Amino acid sequence: MRVLVSGGAGYIGSHTVVRLVAAGHDVVVVDNFGNAKPAVIDRLEALTETNIPVHAFDLTDKDKTEHLFASEQIDAVIHFAGLKAVGESVQIPLDYYQNNLESTFSLLRAMRRHGCSSLVFSSSATVYGDNAPVPYQEDYEPLSAASPYGRTKVMIEHVLRDVAHIDPVWRIAVLRYFNPVGAHPSGTIGEDPQGIPNNLMPFIAQVAVGKRDRLQVFGADYPTTDGTCERDYIHVEDLAAGHVAALNRIAMSNSPIRTWNLGTGTGTSVLEVIHAFERASGRTIPYDVVARRAGDLPAYWADPARANEELGWRATHTIDDMCADTWRWQSENPHGYEDAAPPDE
Ligand code: NAD
Ligand code: UD1
Repeated sequence: MRVLVSGGAGYIGSHTVVRLVAAGHDVVVVDNFGNAKPAVIDRLEALTETNIPVHAFDLTDKDKTEHLFASEQIDAVIHFAGLKAVGESVQIPLDYYQNNLESTFSLLRAMRRHGCSSLVFSSSATVYGDNAPVPYQEDYEPLSAASPYGRTKVMIEHVLRDVAHIDPVWRIAVLRYFNPVGAHPSGTIGEDPQGIPNNLMPFIAQVAVGKRDRLQVFGADYPTTDGTCERDYIHVEDLAAGHVAALNRIAMSNSPIRTWNLGTGTGTSVLEVIHAFERASGRTIPYDVVARRAGDLPAYWADPARANEELGWRATHTIDDMCADTWRWQSENPHGYEDAAPPDE
């Protein structure tokens, strides 16, 4: 299949591009490079030993999106493109609603006009809101989210259900990711957050490599095994494989839309992640326990049974694998993709 990967220069998109090529698909990338560096494309071409066509524009531009579909024969779309920082979404909600919703509308319209009906969408465990029983199961309702970022995911899930309901030619996979971490085992692509990382794993990695002094552990008084929050960390390589499996599944499916959790089914505490990273890196991670972060839930993880059964997919990487691969990427690229830039002179 010729697969359009929106946000294909980003963290999860780039790893999925490698998997798609390995599975025999042709890949076309569209990305506005708002949160990605062009150097990632060179790394992807080296890893896959293929030429990857890249369209550098903003998907909220309907005309350019239409032109892309007119100029390329696209069989399926994996839609990663979106803004994703929870805290930032509270500060600039309109930017989040506009970017995440309009890019999706523009894609859906162009796909429909050009007879392309297979779509894999990046949703998030955040749509389970604050009250879903753990482990989270796909049929839980009502969806809700505590941030504008999360609400864009809830809204897009509803939009996708509505279009699939009225037009059953659609084949849509909604994938709810838990906490993606890790990097490609080559150490050449990985997560490259701009500024201070919001998330735990990239923060720990930057402490280990000496870019930051200490980690703050947000609360050790939760009702969990060691008092710190528990999350379902999933290796980005497993996540990427889940997208290829979902693409195969919807190609054979009779139903216009289906939702799958992509998680391991296991919770890991903040302290367990720190200790795993210390083992992987051989470095000590200094940390201080500070107050809870507003909005954090104590503990949640996926019930991945539906994806295991229906997609024939299972997360196989352990937390030690996730830390080892994050450390390889971080230690070999301490400044992320900036390390790939040529010298000034
Ligand atoms: P990322 O920021 O690394 O990748 C997103 C890519 O989309 C970036 O390269 C960015 O430049 C591009 N982009 C954003 N808006 C665009 C637009 N309007 N037009 C064209 N390109 C645009 O993020 P990621 O971590 O790879 O996440 C991918 C998707 O998965 C996002 O939709 C995100 O919300 C979702 N998700 C991520 C996580 C996570 O922890 N990383 C968890 C759950 C869901
Ligand atoms: C966060 C988002 C979630 C998003 C996900 C993407 C919030 C409230 N939730 O999830 O919507 O889908 O990222 O991966 O922002 N922690 C520390 N110190 C740090 C950073 C994090 O102790 O410096 C703790 C947090 O309290 C949390 C755990 O580590 O318990 C994981 O945090 P993080 O990586 O930010 O992910 P989530 O909060 O689970």
